[in-house]
Amino acid sequence: MRRSCGAAVAALAASSSAVSITDVCTTSNVQAALPANGTLVGIDMIPSSVTASVVYNATTGGGMGGATSGSSASYTYCNVTVAYTHTGKGDKVVLLYALPQPSDFKNRFYVAGGGGFSLSSSATGGLEYGAAGGATDAGYDAFSNSYDEVVLYGNGSINWDATYMFGYQALGEMTKVGKPLAQAFYGLNDTKIYTYFEGCSDGGREGMSQVQRFGEEYDGAITGAPAFRFAQQQVHHVFSSAVEVTQDYYPPPCEISKIVNATIAACDPLDGRTDGVVSRTDLCMLNFDLKSVIGEPYYCAAENSTSLGFGFNKRSAANKHSLRRRQAQGSTTSSQPAQNGTVSAKAVAVAQAIYDGLHNSAGERAYLSWQIASELGDASPTYSTDTNSWELSIPSTGGEYVTKFIQLLDLDNLSDLDGVTYDTLVEWMQTGMVRYMDSLQTTLPDLTPFQASGGKLLHYHGESDSSIPAASSVHYWQSVRSVMYGNLTDEAALESLQDWYQFYLVPGAGHCGANQLQPGPYPQTNMDVMIDWVENGVKPTRLNATVSSGSYAGETQMLCQWPTRPLWQGNSSSFDCVDDQASIDSWTYTFPAFKLPVY
Ligand SMILES: *[C@@H]1O[C@H](CO)[C@@H](O)[C@H](O)[C@H]1NC(C)=O
Ligand SMILES: *[C@@H]1O[C@H](CO)[C@@H](O)[C@H](O)[C@H]1NC(C)=O
Ligand SMILES: *[C@@H]1O[C@H](CO)[C@@H](O)[C@H](O)[C@H]1NC(C)=O
Ligand SMILES: *[C@@H]1O[C@H](CO)[C@@H](O)[C@H](O)[C@H]1NC(C)=O
Ligand SMILES: *[C@@H]1O[C@H](CO)[C@@H](O)[C@H](O)[C@H]1NC(C)=O
Ligand SMILES: *[C@@H]1O[C@H](CO)[C@@H](O)[C@H](O)[C@H]1NC(C)=O
Ligand SMILES: *[C@@H]1O[C@H](CO)[C@@H](O)[C@H](O)[C@H]1NC(C)=O
Ligand SMILES: *[C@@H]1O[C@H](CO)[C@@H](O)[C@H](O)[C@H]1NC(C)=O
Ligand SMILES: *[C@@H]1O[C@H](CO)[C@@H](O)[C@H](O)[C@H]1NC(C)=O
Ligand SMILES: *[C@@H]1O[C@H](CO)[C@@H](O)[C@H](O)[C@H]1NC(C)=O
Ligand SMILES: *[C@@H]1O[C@H](CO)[C@@H](O)[C@H](O)[C@H]1NC(C)=O
Ligand SMILES: *[C@@H]1O[C@H](CO)[C@@H](O)[C@H](O)[C@H]1NC(C)=O
Repeated sequence: MRRSCGAAVAALAASSSAVSITDVCTTSNVQAALPANGTLVGIDMIPSSVTASVVYNATTGGGMGGATSGSSASYTYCNVTVAYTHTGKGDKVVLLYALPQPSDFKNRFYVAGGGGFSLSSSATGGLEYGAAGGATDAGYDAFSNSYDEVVLYGNGSINWDATYMFGYQALGEMTKVGKPLAQAFYGLNDTKIYTYFEGCSDGGREGMSQVQRFGEEYDGAITGAPAFRFAQQQVHHVFSSAVEVTQDYYPPPCEISKIVNATIAACDPLDGRTDGVVSRTDLCMLNFDLKSVIGEPYYCAAENSTSLGFGFNKRSAANKHSLRRRQAQGSTTSSQPAQNGTVSAKAVAVAQAIYDGLHNSAGERAYLSWQIASELGDASPTYSTDTNSWELSIPSTGGEYVTKFIQLLDLDNLSDLDGVTYDTLVEWMQTGMVRYMDSLQTTLPDLTPFQASGGKLLHYHGESDSSIPAASSVHYWQSVRSVMYGNLTDEAALESLQDWYQFYLVPGAGHCGANQLQPGPYPQTNMDVMIDWVENGVKPTRLNATVSSGSYAGETQMLCQWPTRPLWQGNSSSFDCVDDQASIDSWTYTFPAFKLPVY
């Protein structure tokens, strides 16, 4: 009965190709298009909650493409909100959908990832691809709250509903409702709706959560620098501080900056081209000795600086909404005196320990770390004008995770690291991994349902990411390969995997964006690549990326697909993608500090 209006629209669609947005963007058409109670088990739609209104000539995109391309195109779409409840639970989850005007719709559905502790609050990211899109308030008013603000009801009391909803469930349900809604809204009946996910950072983790948990729902997922292996990743944000406490040295930021700059300068040519970019951090790790920087002079003028709480590059591609929210909450303004000195052995020892990664007191590796030549943002101390010295500063990314998620105390940061050893960090990781194994950890390595239903995964990571180590992505790729294709030869496993899951390191790039210190390439056309792969069967072998600054600005580089690595031919404009076992080995880790497998 409730289908009658959708059917009317279908009839209209059949009789006239010129169905207008005002024909379909009505409360009654949306109500009729909702999946009936019982079709999606556990999800009961509330028709009386529907709102629908046309938004004309909106310039906002809200997707990854829009954020990076700065496109000025405008879109007319139907702005829909609707609530549902979980059967028998009495809760309420609000969904937001943006449905393009019928003449623009290309049978696509697009889900954008958020960033930090936020899901995307924008549904319009797919409009530039002729896609409908959606966003969810996840039942905890996620359009206004970030998840870390609601994870505890109070000390010791975890909000598990919010945790699972943020972890993976809310986006999966939003997509399951959105696809049949879009079909019926346009009167398309059984037409295939190609469904895409695109996100970076936590958005990358969210994408992995969908591939892992709702694999059949997605045709293509683009996941950048995923903030997965959540417990290890978040505690790792405290590691630099722990190194400084352990070694009792708090290097002035200028000294750290000098170490990083000198490393970049020394390792830049190792990849065959001197272009300001360390395209092969593996060769840097294998061939460069940080100690060679000791004694080099550094100088930085006095400045007042503002830093983002999450260690994000200001150019972060995460959606603008959540970036703004993060900035307001987590940003700190600090003033620095002029710094003039020479690089000390102590500072190099701190940097080396950070790049080496966390080990327990038995010397067993617990985690990987940022690639050498990455910035060391988590290591920046604060300057105390009381003592005129540099003092411990715990990044609130890691500090808040430990207080709220491990200690279960409603505090925004650790106040100190008194009594905290490397073993303590390992314990925190262990506790977080086990406690949130099936919600936030997001490292399930068996992607069979996604693969079997034809899904394609494009995974990328800035090689000089200073927030989420690039090796974290390599480790997950290796886990998927060995869990899904463990019985195959390396070559056969690679071939099978690359058919549907491709991974790319982005030379020089930082966290979800280009890197001011290394003017390298960044992939800007991932959705075009993915659409071609999914809808036209054009499987990529390399990834299209463009240099946006420096003397090579405008250059297109077709990035090498992992596990091959770039090697430039002299200072020319071409490079080969080579197999280099020593390099691959340098990216390969085991974590004997944990008894459980760490995927
Ligand atoms: C949808 O397709 C089925 C089978 O092709 C058909 O029986 C049904 O009438 C169609 N419904 C609408 C609303 O077009
Ligand atoms: C579906 O279930 C919800 C929750 O019980 C209810 O509010 C809604 O009216 C139901 N929808 C229909 C069409 O009956
Ligand atoms: C939207 O833009 C089109 C083309 O520029 C224009 O003709 C139309 O009047 C605009 N509509 C509204 C509601 O502003
Ligand atoms: C979409 O609709 C909701 C609910 O009515 C409203 O709060 C929101 O402002 C609308 N968005 C736009 C862009 O008009
Ligand atoms: C490192 O390089 C950056 C970019 O060129 C520059 O802004 C910064 O001042 C340098 N740091 C030092 C200590 O020279
Ligand atoms: C930093 O800010 C303080 C207070 O606003 C101001 O007095 C000082 O001149 C600023 N220093 C620099 C280097 O901008
Ligand atoms: C840094 O210190 C050295 C040695 O004290 C001095 O020669 C040099 O002028 C200083 N540089 C600046 C920019 O102040
Ligand atoms: C905790 O985080 C806040 C916000 O980033 C920061 O200002 C503060 O210095 C941190 N606390 C410690 C002890 O490092
Ligand atoms: C939660 O625990 C912290 C640390 O013990 C304490 O400072 C705070 O007051 C507690 N909050 C409440 C509401 O009891
Ligand atoms: C490897 O295992 C998979 C899944 O169990 C199976 O489909 C495949 O045929 C096996 N391949 C070989 C070479 O045994
Ligand atoms: C790479 O992307 C750019 C921008 O879309 C396009 O002009 C170029 O043709 C692409 N190159 C390749 C080899 O696909
Ligand atoms: C490449 O260029 C750099 C300076 O731009 C130069 O120092 C180096 O010798 C060149 N390398 C080759 C192989 O030509």
